[in-house]
Amino acid sequence: MRRLLVTGGAGFIGANFCHYWSEQHPTDRVVVLDALTYAGNPESIASLTESRRVRFVRADIADRAQVDALLTEEHIDTIVNFAAESHVDRSIEDAAVFLRTNVLGTQALLEAASDSWGLGAAERGCRFHHVSTDEVYGSLAAGEAAFTETSPYAPSSPYAASKAAADHLVRAYGRTYGLPFTISNCSNNYGPYQFPEKLLPLCVLNALEGRPLPIYGDGLQIRDWLHVADHCRAIDLILQASPAGETWNVGGATQDPTIAVVGAVWDVLDEAFAAQRELRERFGRSPAAQGGSARTLVTHVRDRPGHDRRYAVDARKIRERLGFVPGKSLSTGLRETVRWYLEHEPWWRAVVSGSYREWYARQYRL
Ligand code: NAD
Ligand code: TYD
Repeated sequence: MRRLLVTGGAGFIGANFCHYWSEQHPTDRVVVLDALTYAGNPESIASLTESRRVRFVRADIADRAQVDALLTEEHIDTIVNFAAESHVDRSIEDAAVFLRTNVLGTQALLEAASDSWGLGAAERGCRFHHVSTDEVYGSLAAGEAAFTETSPYAPSSPYAASKAAADHLVRAYGRTYGLPFTISNCSNNYGPYQFPEKLLPLCVLNALEGRPLPIYGDGLQIRDWLHVADHCRAIDLILQASPAGETWNVGGATQDPTIAVVGAVWDVLDEAFAAQRELRERFGRSPAAQGGSARTLVTHVRDRPGHDRRYAVDARKIRERLGFVPGKSLSTGLRETVRWYLEHEPWWRAVVSGSYREWYARQYRL
């Protein structure tokens, strides 16, 4: 039985991970530590905290006193570090908080784990798993080989640079203090509970409300899209089977330009509106409610500064050594995700209020 501390467990991937973990490993102890920034939403894990399958503690990963107390009190042997500032556009507007959480916060957590577990941590089965991103490798030109675990780091945005710095710190704590760690560098995730500032939920919600969808530049940037459930399963495999000290690329499912993915989401929505009168009544402002297509909402805007043109993940290592292959095709995953947002209107209505509206207006110059 493991005793997990899941940092950032009220965010998009962390919340999905908590649902996944409590189904797959119901006897494990799961404690969520999350500062509840604008992106953290306790509602996303409310069914787990209410049924006491997960304990929730509101705290900052950089708060040594609280983290130390939790590690001791809960006898934590596994830390899965999702906590981060995660949106590239926000890091371009203000990088400081990205350094504070992603770099200094991760360092504080590493130190807390190292101090708490002490010598012999690996032999006792302790593990610090750090959740990172393919964005640390920078941008690829068309035709260039996909990122492997040994590709050089070349981050473009302050977000990616802060994640790269954190990865280096994790490895340094492994080398210097013997902390048993693993790192996963995953591609773009999508699925339930994703905060609507990210492309795919933004695309669904703007279509429902009949708002233009801002596409940066020509919209031909290529991303590797992975359903969040597949990411959670990959982390599980790493925790079960990876030796300490290893890095794993996760992804490899797709190579699609933004504009094509957006179009695929809207085709699903258009179809659903054509089939269901109830949707046409609920979302009367959507072009699909009037027999049109959400595709008319595409609006090309100024490109993101430093925008990475292409990401591609070479995921051979995790496939060959741990047997991981993405289970959901993009078309199935998008269909399920669209359905999830249609069925969870109260969840997204609650998060698109207040400070998010202010940020949205600033970002898109409304
Ligand atoms: P998210 O922004 O939805 O969630 C981040 C969570 O961290 C939020 O609940 C927030 O409240 C919490 N948090 C922020 N600062 C904190 C702090 N100082 N202390 C404690 N909690 C804090 O992000 P996400 O998309 O779920 O990403 C989770 C992790 O996965 C991040 O580390 C991100 O870099 C990585 N990642 C994300 C993707 C993706 O496509 N979303 C892909 C690869 C890797
Ligand atoms: P995003 O979800 O922000 O992920 P990342 O930049 O970390 O890959 O964006 C995915 C792609 O969609 C990226 O190429 C930027 C583009 N994009 C837009 O064109 N318009 C938008 O409003 C957003 C948020 C993203």
